[in-house]
Amino acid sequence: MLKLAARVGRAKPSAIMVVAEKAKRLKAEGRDIISFSIGVPNFLPGAHVYEAARKALEHDSGQYGSNRGSDALLDAFLKHIEQVGMTGYTRRNCAVGIGAKGVLYNLMEVLLDEGDAIAFPTPYWTSYVDIAEILGAQIQLLPCPATQHYKLTPAQLDAALAQKPKVFLFNNPSNPTGMVYSRDEIAALADVLVRYPDTWIITDDIYNRMVFDGVGYHNFVMARPELRERVIFMDSCSKTYGMPGWRIGFVAAPEVVANAVVTMNSNHITNLPEITTAAALAALAGPQDVPAQKNIEFQDHRDRVVAALKAIPGVVCPQPQGAFYVFPDISCAFGKTHDGKLIGNDVDLCNALLDAKGVACVPGVAFGEPRALRISYTCPANQLDEGLRRIREFFAELK
Ligand SMILES: Cc1ncc(COP(=O)(O)O)c(C=O)c1O
Repeated sequence: MLKLAARVGRAKPSAIMVVAEKAKRLKAEGRDIISFSIGVPNFLPGAHVYEAARKALEHDSGQYGSNRGSDALLDAFLKHIEQVGMTGYTRRNCAVGIGAKGVLYNLMEVLLDEGDAIAFPTPYWTSYVDIAEILGAQIQLLPCPATQHYKLTPAQLDAALAQKPKVFLFNNPSNPTGMVYSRDEIAALADVLVRYPDTWIITDDIYNRMVFDGVGYHNFVMARPELRERVIFMDSCSKTYGMPGWRIGFVAAPEVVANAVVTMNSNHITNLPEITTAAALAALAGPQDVPAQKNIEFQDHRDRVVAALKAIPGVVCPQPQGAFYVFPDISCAFGKTHDGKLIGNDVDLCNALLDAKGVACVPGVAFGEPRALRISYTCPANQLDEGLRRIREFFAELK
C-alpha cells in the first residue's frame, strides 16, 4: 500500500487559518465581517522598498545566490539589530530564511533529534507546537496564565530547565499576548539560564521594534553576555515593515548554529531571490518613517482595545506592551448562552461572535490557552471601534 511519511500524520493545518477561512467565506456570502483574526500588519512598506525591488528586477542576474544571504543584506541586518542592542555579531553569525517561520523550521531541524525536548511558555505561537510535532520532538509546556500576566517567572524557568530540555524557546514581544518583558524580568530569567549550560535558547523576537510605553526591547545576551554562546535570535521583515508575503527572515546565532542553518538552506531553499533581497535591504537600511508611524498608530489601537475590554464585567485583560495583539481571558462567559446557544468554551464563543456579530477572533486554544481569545488590532480605527462595539454588545447579551 502507498503510504505518506508518519510525520505528515502529525502535521495540522493552522488553527488561525481555519477561523480566517470561515470569516472569508461569510464575507463572500455578503455578510458584514470585521476580522480581528489574522496576525498581519495591514500596511504596505514605503515607496523606497518597491523602488529597490523594481531596480533589482532591471538588473536581475537570474543566477543562484548565497545560501547564507547576500553580504549587503547581512550587513544591513547587522546594523539593524545593533540599533536594538544586539551588538557584536558578524556575517558569520547570520543567515536568512523564507520568513522567520522558515528560519525556525530550519533551527528546530538543526537542534532537535526525534524525542528531544523543547520547552516554551504557554500561550505560544501556534507553529511552535506544529513544527515540534512534525519533527517528533517532545514538547514541554510552561503555563503562564492571565493571572501572571502571561509571563514566565524565574522559578518556573528553573523548574523547567532542571528537566534538561535540549531547547528553550522564548518569544518577546509575544504573539498572542502582546506581553513584553522588562529589562529586570529579562535579567532575572537570564540569571537562571546561565545555570543550565546544556540548553540552547531560541529568542523569537520578530516584534522587537513594536514595543510601546518606552519599555524597550531586551534580550538575554544584553543581560548576560556569556549567553551569546547559546542564544539564537530570530528576526523578520514581515511585521515591522508590512512585508509578510515577501518572506524574509533572519537569524543571529553562534557560528556553529548559523552555519548549520546555511547548510539547511543549501538543501531547502538555496537562496532568497535577488528582488526580495533588494527589497529587504531597502526596508532595513532605508527611511523608517512607515514603521515608526505604524507603531504610534498601533499603540493607540492597543489603548482602544484594552479600554473596551476592561469595560466588560468579568473579562480580564492584561495590558500588552508590544506587537499588535490583545489576549483577554473571557472565561467569565463559559456556561452562559447567547441567542440560546451555549458558550461552553472559547471556540463556542468565537463561533457565536462570528455568527451573531460578524467579528472574527481566534480562540485561545489555538495558542494553548482555552480561557482566552486573540484580537489582532491592525485594521483601520473605524473598523476597530465598530468591532469592539459589537463585542461589548455580544457580552451584554449573554444570559
Ligand atoms: C511569534 C512569531 N514568530 C514567527 C512568525 C513568522 O513570521 P514570518 O512571517 O517571518 O515567517 C510569526 C508570524 O505570525 C510570529 O507571530
